[in-house]
Amino acid sequence: MNTPPALNGRPRPDNHVIVIFGIGGDLAKRKILPGLYHLAVAGLLPEDYRIIGCARPHSVMTSEAFREFAYDAVCDFASDKPSGKEWDDFAQRLAFAIDPDDGPQSLQQAVAKAEEEIGGEVRRLFHLAIPPNAMPEVIQLLGTKGLNKNARVICEKPFGVDLASAVKLNAEITEYFDETQIFRIDHYLGKESIDNILALRFANELFEPLWRRNHVKYVQIDVPETLSIEGRGAFYEGTGAFRDMVVTHLFQVLGILAMEQPTSLTARPLRDEIDKVFDSLRVLDPKEVLRGQYEGYLDEDGVAPDSTTETFIALRAWVDNSRWMGVPFYLRTGKCLAVSSQMITIGLREPVMEIFPDQKGAEHPDANKLIIDFLDPGSIHAYFLAKRPGPDMTLGLAKMHFHYRDTFQEKNNLEAYERLLLEVMLGNQALFTRSHGIERLWEVAAPLLEHPSPVETYPKGSWGPKAIEDVVAPDHWTMPE
Ligand code: BG6
Repeated sequence: MNTPPALNGRPRPDNHVIVIFGIGGDLAKRKILPGLYHLAVAGLLPEDYRIIGCARPHSVMTSEAFREFAYDAVCDFASDKPSGKEWDDFAQRLAFAIDPDDGPQSLQQAVAKAEEEIGGEVRRLFHLAIPPNAMPEVIQLLGTKGLNKNARVICEKPFGVDLASAVKLNAEITEYFDETQIFRIDHYLGKESIDNILALRFANELFEPLWRRNHVKYVQIDVPETLSIEGRGAFYEGTGAFRDMVVTHLFQVLGILAMEQPTSLTARPLRDEIDKVFDSLRVLDPKEVLRGQYEGYLDEDGVAPDSTTETFIALRAWVDNSRWMGVPFYLRTGKCLAVSSQMITIGLREPVMEIFPDQKGAEHPDANKLIIDFLDPGSIHAYFLAKRPGPDMTLGLAKMHFHYRDTFQEKNNLEAYERLLLEVMLGNQALFTRSHGIERLWEVAAPLLEHPSPVETYPKGSWGPKAIEDVVAPDHWTMPE
């Protein structure tokens, strides 16, 4: 194969055998296979590689059927549609190994065959796109069959379902893999606009001095989704919105927003600072949490008729350190809501002196805010007050906008999974979570998991339960435009 040149002169990963567990699942179809194909087209995959799919018995397929499955996934979800030589090159490297539970040796054989075809030194990458309760069995299989040698393992979120299971899972993994081989993935850490928060804060004296309790009144992290549970009833029932989105994605975003400046962007200092934020997070008070469930959820396949799993959650979190003491962090996410959006709002305090006749915050509820829209491709907006033209000194809302799409070339964009898969192959753990941080987040979550507040139903296409305003009172929810 004539390998295309790597993007921006970045190093290429070593040759790899990539094994994806859970290949029949939604994640493999929507993100992993399309992402790997885009990396291949962009010239960012290793010079030689093989991709092996594994699944439970009900999803077992032939290698030919796997190629067709991958073709459909790439057609439906990739930015590059499969075509010509590029697709043929990629497709010829795909193979299916049968369910490892039924015949572990089939996986061993498939890996050995792929390594032989590639020749020389080959790294192994195991992507565990499976629920937390299925992980120990696979980890044990990899360890006992010696497949953990020269290998890295990606563990999908949620990592465990509570503190005890996360501690247990960490112990099970570290029996066969050392910490440098373990990549606990949270794809929000691979989003361009989330990484850009580091640049916004630490490359600009314009923003960072404001980034503290003296100037910030509240922070809002909002990820409403129009999507339903999309046929993932069995997964979602044991998970719910809190485990699926908050203890994972939204808390990681909070970690980046609230962290101190790391001494460098390498893995240890970056993760040290994020973990310090998690250490300072106050344990959740169920009284500050609102749980909701969309009407019709109980009729979804795989959902118990009396399920109290939440499909919506809004809560108030607190970071008890000298930078953030007293500043509420409002988090919300939910399925089947009115719009899909991913938005951070930094609400700033009002100036102490009022010298304008109409300066009061109540008269301009949208002013004094910095909004980071992190739905790809992302944008940032400053809302402030300006003098209205004319003889009087009156104020009006003004806005400044930065759009990724207008400022930078999009061709270098990597979608979050693409970026993170590449970082794993390069062995860079900076954007992956550590066991300490994850265990601390489960500790913070414990009161809510043990004593969940009741779920309130809400109509599909709405904004969720009305009581949301109580969660943020006396502040107000900033709605997506
Ligand atoms: C996944 C959740 O981790 O993230 C899904 O399991 C959710 O329920 C998805 O829809 C959202 O990801 P993104 O990239 O669309 O923000």
